[in-house]
Amino acid sequence: MSIFLLVISFSSVLQVQAQGLKDAYSNYFKVGVAVNQRNVTDPQQQTLILREFNSITAENDMKPEPTEPREGEFNWSRADRIADFCRQNGIKLRGHCLVWHSQIGEWMFSDSEGNTVTKEVLLQRIRNHTKAIVSRYSDVVYCWDVVNEAITDDPRATNRYRQSKLYRIAGDDFIREAFRAAREANPKALLFYNDYNECDPVKSRRIYDMVREMKAAGVPIDGIGMQGHYNIYGPSEEQVDAALSLYKTIVNHIHVTELDVRINEEMGGQLQFSRQGEQVSDSIRQHLADQYARLFRQFRRHSDVIDCVTFWNLSDRDSWLGQANYPLPFDAQYQPKLAYTYIRDMAEPKWPMAVKPASRPRRQQAEQRTTPFDPARAFEQKEGIIEDFKPSSKNQPGRDYPQVNSQGYVRLRVEAPDAKSVSCSLGRGGTPLHRAYDGSWVGQTLRPEDEGFHYYHITVDGGTFNDPGAQNFFGGTRWESGIEVPSHDQDFFALKNVPHGRVQEVLFWSESTSQMRRAFVYTPPTYDASKKKFPVLYLQHGWGENETSWSQQGHAGLIIDNLLAEGCTLPFIIVMTYGMTNEVRFGGLREFTAMDFEKVLVDELIPYIDAHFRTKADKWNRAMAGLSMGGFETRLITLRRPEVFGYYALMSGGQYQPADIKDVRQVRLIFQSCGGKENPDAIRQSTQTLKDAGFNAVCYISEGTAHEFLTWRRSLRELAPLLFR
Ligand code: XIL
Repeated sequence: MSIFLLVISFSSVLQVQAQGLKDAYSNYFKVGVAVNQRNVTDPQQQTLILREFNSITAENDMKPEPTEPREGEFNWSRADRIADFCRQNGIKLRGHCLVWHSQIGEWMFSDSEGNTVTKEVLLQRIRNHTKAIVSRYSDVVYCWDVVNEAITDDPRATNRYRQSKLYRIAGDDFIREAFRAAREANPKALLFYNDYNECDPVKSRRIYDMVREMKAAGVPIDGIGMQGHYNIYGPSEEQVDAALSLYKTIVNHIHVTELDVRINEEMGGQLQFSRQGEQVSDSIRQHLADQYARLFRQFRRHSDVIDCVTFWNLSDRDSWLGQANYPLPFDAQYQPKLAYTYIRDMAEPKWPMAVKPASRPRRQQAEQRTTPFDPARAFEQKEGIIEDFKPSSKNQPGRDYPQVNSQGYVRLRVEAPDAKSVSCSLGRGGTPLHRAYDGSWVGQTLRPEDEGFHYYHITVDGGTFNDPGAQNFFGGTRWESGIEVPSHDQDFFALKNVPHGRVQEVLFWSESTSQMRRAFVYTPPTYDASKKKFPVLYLQHGWGENETSWSQQGHAGLIIDNLLAEGCTLPFIIVMTYGMTNEVRFGGLREFTAMDFEKVLVDELIPYIDAHFRTKADKWNRAMAGLSMGGFETRLITLRRPEVFGYYALMSGGQYQPADIKDVRQVRLIFQSCGGKENPDAIRQSTQTLKDAGFNAVCYISEGTAHEFLTWRRSLRELAPLLFR
């Protein structure tokens, strides 16, 4: 019994895995592929073709020039090989193509003396070619792209036709003649007019007009081929829908004949190479999958008229666009990509993707504009994701987005009515946003974010912008958007009803840099009311940040207020100034000595602070700490100026070695910390080495966090109680 069940379930697993695209779409349309000679001769590629596809197009081998390089001289060997592959495997062949201005023998247009032929001669040559190839493959070819790309791309052109040699010699009669000859040679084959940029509003109207007029005049056109050379930004679902809806009013057959999706903004029939390079980010992969999902959603919606969708090439390796364009469902190793999964699995409506973009909000009626945004309609609800999303605590006043749930998933929403692409830097490699039903852009991170504070920004049509929903925080050398993913221990930096200290801005003259400089000074709650003097911690930010970072996103003051309220730390002053780190470029760290900053800090700022605040102005009441690059500075400066500081702390900012410090008695505390997702072992080991050498060394690891502010907030909480004891 149990073996029986096992066999059944195992075989059903196999069945599911054996399902190719053709099976997933068996209720909708054929799924085809354009092939080259290697594809139909390499056994592994043959297997892949047979598993996934049930229609084939010859990528080049049935075109006019390769099959008739000189008048009356036919070369069938390559076309035969593809036709035989189809015959042997019972697959149907799409014929591509009979008449095209490109890949056509130049002999067509000139006589033996090199003069341009007459219209009659050209039409006769077209008839001859068409008859020869159509009758040769009439047993296996079920449809033909009879005329390819005859309409102009120029939206301002008064004549709708491409000014090709074909047209200049024969006018649009070359189109009529080709269709008539093809029908005569094989009355059973469906005959298509095929073109690219066929979702463009101007061009689609021209294609429509031409086909309608020709059909009315008795030209045997059965269908329209939409080449489908698209990109991740377009066409939009609305445009695809509009084109299909238009074409289906005049033909009963539509084929998507040459589908591929580039990862740049190029589109259409011209061969252009991607400038993207080899690296494809997660965000681009996601964009590609999303665009394919949108396209196939429209194809399925119109499956009453679409009877075949053909990919232009088998894999990225075969693509005429080059593999850097990343355009197909199979990668350069013939492995299915995320796009493949989306296309195949969305054939059955497993998840609620079917949100059709409404018209642009700008154009909406006033009453529609007041309809509240409904997240249930806009965001994908996924199993395992808890629907308890709340606005981030770092949002701008009254802003609902970004939102975070209790697991750390982030939802974004941006209004950008005319944007073509929007993504967000959160999530590994970024998170793409897509248009929601109301025209806004929405997106959700694929994985939960770490708890704590993160910088991020939005990319709109390739440009960097802040999220209008979020407050800005200085990091990455700019005011970045910030988001707070609630942490389980967030109480220690929360704003509570306890006595609070004060953060004030001070402006001091710096002789060495000939300018006024700024620092923020935290004084504890008891500072104002007492006459006492206080010890001072000089606290440095990291690379890309500045003097605002520790008190704004670091919540340094709140952390100390809360510790004081619980009696866990002595009161002290904190001074935060700009560490002059942001001019250091990546790779230049080796030459970074922090000498300039040392002058500002030790010779200018410390005397200023000691003169303007009630400080205990000696080394045993002075500490220096820094995060990341600020830690690097702390190490350099404390070691060079042992007479100034008595307590040292490095937060994700390196380590001291016993050999660095000549006299064990020069320092009362060495504190070293980092996030559990950084290099905790190195920190633990070096702290142990320091202890073994007789130093008072303490190590702290912030569990579950990386090189980010929650690591450093926690580090400050751990450090404070150890200072000035
Ligand atoms: C392309 C082929 O893929 C390339 O190998 C060849 O060099 C040029 O033609 N529109 C069409 C196809 O109808 O025939 C084209 O195929 C791509 C654009």
